This record gives sequence, C-alpha cells and structure tokens, in this order.
Amino acid sequence: MSGADDDRPVDPVTGYQTTGHNWNGIIELNTPMSRIAVWALVLAFLYSVVAWILLPAWPTGNHYTRGLLGLDQGAEAVDGYRQIHDARQGWMARFDDPDFAALAGDPAVMAEAGPAATRLFHDNCAACHGDDGGGGPGFPVLSDGYWMWGGDPATIAETIRVGINGTDPDTRISEMPRFDWMSREERAILADYVAGLPAQSADPGSPAAQLFADNCATCHGDTAAGGLDNGAPSLADASVIYGQDAETVNTTLWAGRHGTMPSWSGRLTPAEINLLALHVLRLSQGRATP
Ligand code: HEC
Ligand code: HEC
Repeated sequence: MSGADDDRPVDPVTGYQTTGHNWNGIIELNTPMSRIAVWALVLAFLYSVVAWILLPAWPTGNHYTRGLLGLDQGAEAVDGYRQIHDARQGWMARFDDPDFAALAGDPAVMAEAGPAATRLFHDNCAACHGDDGGGGPGFPVLSDGYWMWGGDPATIAETIRVGINGTDPDTRISEMPRFDWMSREERAILADYVAGLPAQSADPGSPAAQLFADNCATCHGDTAAGGLDNGAPSLADASVIYGQDAETVNTTLWAGRHGTMPSWSGRLTPAEINLLALHVLRLSQGRATP
C-alpha cells in the first residue's frame, strides 16, 4: 500500500481501513479478499496450467495444441459410431431387400432391430405422427389399422420412400379439391351427411346421399369407404385426419386439402425405410414399443 492509503480512516467496528470514499455518510470498507478465495484462484490457475500442458487447449489457426495425453474425443466418438454401425450390419443387411413376412415373424431380429426402429421413428416421423403414431390434426394416425394407401409392409415402405405430394418423382399424389363453387346450403347438407357417416346415421336414400354420389363417390367410393388407391380416405370409419364434425368437413369442402408427407428416398437408406415400415406395421398392431 502507498503512504497515502495509510491516511485513510479505519472503521471502528471491524478494524478495517475504509476506501476513504464517503457517499452521503455511507463509507465503504476496504476489506481484503478472503484467504479461501485467494487459494481457490491460485489452485484454479495451477490446474489450468497443468491442463493446458496435458489436454487439447489452445487454437492455433488451422489446428490446436494437442496436449501431452493426446486425447481426441472426436476420434473416440467416430470409433463409437463405427462399433455401433458394425454391430448393426448383421441384421441391417436383412432389411436391404427384405422378405417382410419372414422378418415380421422372426422375433429375434425384431428384438434386435426394435430400438433402432423406435429411434428412427422418433427422429424422423414423430414430429408429425406423434411418438406412438397417434397422429394429430392434419397428420394421420398410423397406429389404428386404417390406411389410405395400404397397410402391408411393402406398401407402407413405398409410401415412406416416395411420400405423398412429396418431392420424389414417383411421389403419391392426392388432392381433396375445393368445392367452393357449391352453394353454401349444399356444402352444409353434405357436411352433415359426412359427419354422420362413421356412425352410419346418414340416410342412403336422401338428397344428401345423391349429392355425395354425384360429387364425391368417384374418389371416396360409393360407400365412402375409400381404398381406391388415390389417397382419398374412408369417410365411413372412425379414423380422421382433419376432423369429421360438420364444421371441419365444411372447411374441408370450402378450402380443399392438400396434405404433404415428405419423400424419404433421399434421406433414409432403403434398409432404414423397410425397418420403419415394419415399425409402423407393429405400431398399428400394438406390438411395437412407442
Ligand atoms: C412433415 C410431417 C410428416 C413427417 C415428418 C412424416 N409424415 Fe407421414 N404423413 C404426413 C401426412 C400429412 C400424411 C398424410 C398425407 C395426406 O393427407 O394424404 C402422412 C402419411 C403417412 C403414411 C400413409 C398412411 C396411410 O394411411 O396410408 C405413412 C405410412 C406415413 N406417413 C409414415 C411416415 C413415416 C414412417 C415417417 C418417418 C420416416 C413419416 N411418415 C414422417 C406427414 C408427415
Ligand atoms: C378428386 C378426388 C376427391 C373428390 C372428388 C373428393 N375428395 Fe374428399 N378427399 C380426397 C383426398 C385425396 C383427401 C385427403 C386429403 C388430405 O389428406 O390432404 C380427401 C379428404 C376428405 C375429407 C377429410 C377427411 C378427414 O379424415 O379429415 C373429407 C371430409 C372429404 N374429403 C369429403 C369429401 C366430400 C364430401 C366430397 C364431395 C363433395 C369429396 N370429399 C370429394 C379426394 C377427393
């Protein structure tokens, strides 16, 4: 401390010197740093010197100081991935060009592949279809056994590969046209009729049924059961995409629908797509863990 510091007043209660500043009667103590904090700083500094010498530490432009221990967590991670990859090769190869029936009936391979399938589904599909394939407004349920395009594993794999209104050149194409040219009354009549279909409370001989036969049956089928391979869902079952209450059906009729399922051909390998198809099948049968 300089000589001038020694002139600063001493606080009578603590015995410490003050900083000499006085703010409207409030005087600041010049308390020394506690010993434990000083030691902590010294130890931390010593540790950092040792760590700089032993571990990767300083960037040097294109590279970094590697440290005497030569640790490389990047290489360790790559090694780990390689081991997982190698361990999968045995069973993954069976999904390249699969015999779905044999695979589905082979509990050993499905037990081995199950966790990878669940992870793939969570990473790529769950954002839209839900963790357990339970769907949501605009995204169909995959776990209920109702299908627009077919529920055998080869067809599911094809849907995943090419997508629906997706970017693959072979993508499945589907379109619910707008019926904005219809009168408001006709749309209301149809909406009530369609809302009653799942409960079979719609009258097949009514004018509404006639409107349906004239405008809707080409795509949804005479009995509204879908299944015509054009992506038009059944309107007669419990499964819904957007909603089958009269109000939502009215919106569907007025605005049309153009659901998009991405094409996965460029993003997942054929084996991964086939594995996912079996996972989706098992979700629909209640046999996969979500
Ligand atoms: C961006 C949202 C989105 C993602 C991600 C997505 N899907 Fe879809 N998927 C849809 C939509 C929307 C439809 C329905 C399209 C329509 O309305 O016709 C659909 C339809 C399907 C169908 C057809 C169902 C049927 O009834 O035939 C299957 C199977 C399917 N998805 C599986 C998957 C799988 C497996 C994944 C993960 C690889 C996946 N989806 C990822 C949005 C998505
Ligand atoms: C050109 C074929 C086509 C015609 C004609 C058509 N639809 Fe559709 N409809 C579709 C397709 C495809 C979808 C699925 C759209 C999607 O998922 O994005 C659909 C979806 C729907 C849905 C939504 C179902 C749900 O689960 O949410 C309703 C309701 C519906 N159509 C009612 C009708 C009615 C009523 C008519 C007649 C006025 C009609 N459609 C005519 C192809 C058609």
